[in-house]
Amino acid sequence: MKKTIAVLPGDGIGPEVIQQAIKIIKSLEQKFDHQFELKEYLLGAAAMNQNLEPLPDETLKGCLDADAVLVGAVGDPKYDRNLNATVRPEHGLLSLRRKLEIHTNVRPIKSYRKLYSLSPLKEEQIQNVDLTIFRELTGGLYFGKKQKDELGMWALDECFYHKDEIVRVARLAFDESRQRRKKLTLVDKANILETGRLWRTTVIEIQKNEFPDIELDFLFIDNAAMQLILNPRQFDVILTSNLFGDILSDEASVIVGSIGLLPSGSYGEGDKALFEPIHGSYPQAAGRNIANPLASILSVAMMMEHFELHQEEDLIHSCVDFVIQEGLGTMDMAPRQMISCSALGNFIASLLVAPKNTWGEMRKNVVLH
Ligand code: IPM
Ligand code: MN
Repeated sequence: MKKTIAVLPGDGIGPEVIQQAIKIIKSLEQKFDHQFELKEYLLGAAAMNQNLEPLPDETLKGCLDADAVLVGAVGDPKYDRNLNATVRPEHGLLSLRRKLEIHTNVRPIKSYRKLYSLSPLKEEQIQNVDLTIFRELTGGLYFGKKQKDELGMWALDECFYHKDEIVRVARLAFDESRQRRKKLTLVDKANILETGRLWRTTVIEIQKNEFPDIELDFLFIDNAAMQLILNPRQFDVILTSNLFGDILSDEASVIVGSIGLLPSGSYGEGDKALFEPIHGSYPQAAGRNIANPLASILSVAMMMEHFELHQEEDLIHSCVDFVIQEGLGTMDMAPRQMISCSALGNFIASLLVAPKNTWGEMRKNVVLH
């Protein structure tokens, strides 16, 4: 198979973790005889530091021309500290999502048996959690009208949703439920927000007309945030708006034990798709070779699924499961044996091209730095 992949390492630990994802892509190319053409572009503070917009034209064009986009992370404390800045690294990622029209962000949350003790939650609460968050990605509070007065006395962020924006993400979430345990939970704030009520009536209508076989239930966001910690196993697919999905997915990472393990995929109507870890740019760790590359590597697995390369996808998962099973991991995983970001990338890249019956032997000789 021949594909072009736009690679946007971005800021902070982005370049380090994406470097490992690239090793994985190269191993897959070699093993399965694909041609994955990788083209690198600037995004976020990495672009701003070169006096460019956070989403330079060249980057956007490269992404529009590519079969898939792989993003590391964006964000830089330099800009966070300046509350008056009108242009921020994050704007780059937001405009990219909007311009690619990737309205649905999928964030799978699956707990690993071996890592149960990593979570501050009790083991019996997080055993066998397997849920997926469908987050609306190109509307809501993130993209509403913004205003502030000159004197700094008031500010406004508008939350707008059109029914069509709800329908398209809801259909994808219902489709996914059908492949899973056939249960969808809509999370909103319909007791307070007009947009919440629009979400509810729209989703009920779709369920009635198109997905009567899917069990649909509802939670208000405040209760959902609590239920996610109290009893995460009750969830199969969670469907929610942009901001609520952003918040719930960071919260859900506590179930898995580290946000460094969570990938995501974003999809639209056509073939356009973007893959990125859900974590941020983690500037404190940048350049130290300690960041966890697994979220980026698992994002490559989601990309392979999108290309309908299921063997490739499964193989990445087997490698990651093996590494975790063997007690290898970066600092955030409190592993039995610590391994650096780059060494973990090298090890998984080498597992990918080796026969499975040699993995045990390879484990004994693993290079940790
Ligand atoms: C995420 C991030 C982004 C978001 C930021 C970096 C713009 O937090 O992908 O979850 O808020 O969507
Ligand atoms: Mn986030």
